[in-house]
Amino acid sequence: MKICMIGTGYVGLVTGTCFAETGNDVICVDIDSAKIDQLNKGHIPIYEPGLDEMIKRNMNEGRLSFTTDLAHGVQASLFIFIAVGTPSSDDGSANLSSVWSVSREIGRHMNGYKIVVTKSTVPVGTTERVKEIIAQETREPFDVASNPEFLKEGAAIDDFMKPDRVVIGTNDPRVTELMKELYEPFVRTGKPILAMDIRSSELTKYAANAMLATRISFMNEIANLCERLGADVNLVRRGIGSDPRI
Ligand SMILES: NC(=O)c1ccc[n+]([C@@H]2O[C@H](COP(=O)([O-])OP(=O)(O)OC[C@H]3O[C@@H](n4cnc5c(N)ncnc54)[C@H](O)[C@@H]3O)[C@@H](O)[C@H]2O)c1
Repeated sequence: MKICMIGTGYVGLVTGTCFAETGNDVICVDIDSAKIDQLNKGHIPIYEPGLDEMIKRNMNEGRLSFTTDLAHGVQASLFIFIAVGTPSSDDGSANLSSVWSVSREIGRHMNGYKIVVTKSTVPVGTTERVKEIIAQETREPFDVASNPEFLKEGAAIDDFMKPDRVVIGTNDPRVTELMKELYEPFVRTGKPILAMDIRSSELTKYAANAMLATRISFMNEIANLCERLGADVNLVRRGIGSDPRI
């Protein structure tokens, strides 16, 4: 399938490369021309085990390319993934300015049916807003979907190639089927593709982040308690961790 990955950062680069590895044609787009120049010269901006070779192999075989030309990426592709940064603002809210500007650009360059997928971590309602923004710019048909990413830096390729689960949020069964087709090579290990509505998909990512952060904070508190009470946190961790509910 033909894929445009907008935002060639940690997530976009790894995800785009892994999609190319499974036989898709992938165009990675970024606003940062220095980064795109470096990638085109074979300099990979991040270190992930196996990524360098995978990028070079897929570039050489003509399935993976890098450009600042968003119009070209959008027009050549069926799937448009938005993988730009969504950093936290001072008040803790997500700064979605890149998501909105990319959505406008996508709308302006549409040339036929597209599926626009939010891969960035975004608050509930963002994908619906992306749809509204694109619709203000075009009369071409399109659908939107949410597909949050769960990879971890340092093990990103393995996490993407062999995910614990894939979450797909769509409001249209035909889009669900196309997304499942795209992800089918990654779930041959038997892990599930969880299809759900867009809002549940968006919230799943935030809920997973919150749960992981809660576990870390909780264990930090227990570690403090252990220090004060003369207990060994590793023994306590093993003691509670052997309960299957924990
Ligand atoms: N890094 C992780 O481990 C991780 C894991 C899961 C989810 N996420 C989420 O994925 C999203 C991307 O994260 P990341 O770590 O890849 O960020 P990043 O900062 O590494 O990359 C973002 C890229 O988007 C590009 N960009 C910004 N505005 C653009 C525009 N208008 N057009 C084209 N490109 C533009 C930037 O130049 C940059 O290269 C975020 O929402 C993040 O929360 C990250």
